[in-house]
Amino acid sequence: MAPGSATGTDRSFSAKWNMTPPEDRRRLAAFQQRWFLERFGFADEAALADHLACRGLVLDAGTGLGYDAARYARLSSAHVVGLDITDSVDIAARDFGGPQNLHFVQGDLETPPFAPAIFDLIVADQVIHHTTDCARTFATLATLLAPGGELAVYVYRRKALIRELADDHVRALTSAMSVAECLEFSEAITELGRALSDLDATVALTRGIPLLGIPAGEHHVQRLLYWCFLKCFWNEELGWHSSVMTNFDWYHPPSASRHTEQEVRAWCMSAGLAVVHLGTTLSGISVRARRN
Ligand SMILES: C[S@@+](CC[C@H](N)C(=O)[O-])C[C@H]1O[C@@H](n2cnc3c(N)ncnc32)[C@H](O)[C@@H]1O
Repeated sequence: MAPGSATGTDRSFSAKWNMTPPEDRRRLAAFQQRWFLERFGFADEAALADHLACRGLVLDAGTGLGYDAARYARLSSAHVVGLDITDSVDIAARDFGGPQNLHFVQGDLETPPFAPAIFDLIVADQVIHHTTDCARTFATLATLLAPGGELAVYVYRRKALIRELADDHVRALTSAMSVAECLEFSEAITELGRALSDLDATVALTRGIPLLGIPAGEHHVQRLLYWCFLKCFWNEELGWHSSVMTNFDWYHPPSASRHTEQEVRAWCMSAGLAVVHLGTTLSGISVRARRN
């Protein structure tokens, strides 16, 4: 059995993608595609198109619903492969299939079904922290890069102390739940996030609490709780279903590792890749690194 299947990662994401109706797929794609440009340092879609112009073969590793792979194929003449461990590739092919340069494949990126050194661009956006060993998966993807090729990866960032402790403990329980149980939990957590957000309350702290990762200043109560104590995602633009799915995506998969900028730089260095862009937000680290 493939590593991702053996750990149940495929079960969590297959459930997530098969529960996402077309309207939510469209809303999620719009939201994620805008966020992608910001995180990976592209001013707009034209800048991404420029970046794709010289690429012959592109891999979207952990493609999910396939909207990013479809965008790369639309913006360039590169052959684009969207790989995912789940049957989401069937949804992706139904939603986006047709262009001659777009291909969806079901497979495990921990044991990729490709020859080494063939891809000019590999993107693994919000994916490798769900594999059993994030550093090893990064190194595996790097072996697929052709000379001059680029690897673009986003991983979760390590959070404040209490949030990390809560994540470890709560996830140990929720990742062992059935899909239905974790969905119910995710709905309750989403309701909490929405209620705190609706409060629209802030607190002002004259002193920060560095040990707990809380800076001085004014904090929105939902954001403070979210970043420093407990993941309870709510986003008005995404709406109820996608917000619930975002919480489910955090609490159900067996692996959701968190990392530091230093770790990410070390992965690049040991794979022989030069960092060309690194962006850190409260949620994660986005890196683009090139094989020279
Ligand atoms: C959070 S989703 C991100 C999807 C997409 N990249 C995006 O940005 O919207 C993570 C995806 O990675 C896939 N995935 C996780 N582990 C994988 C593995 N070992 N091999 C292939 N796909 C994997 C999951 O099935 C899921 O579709």
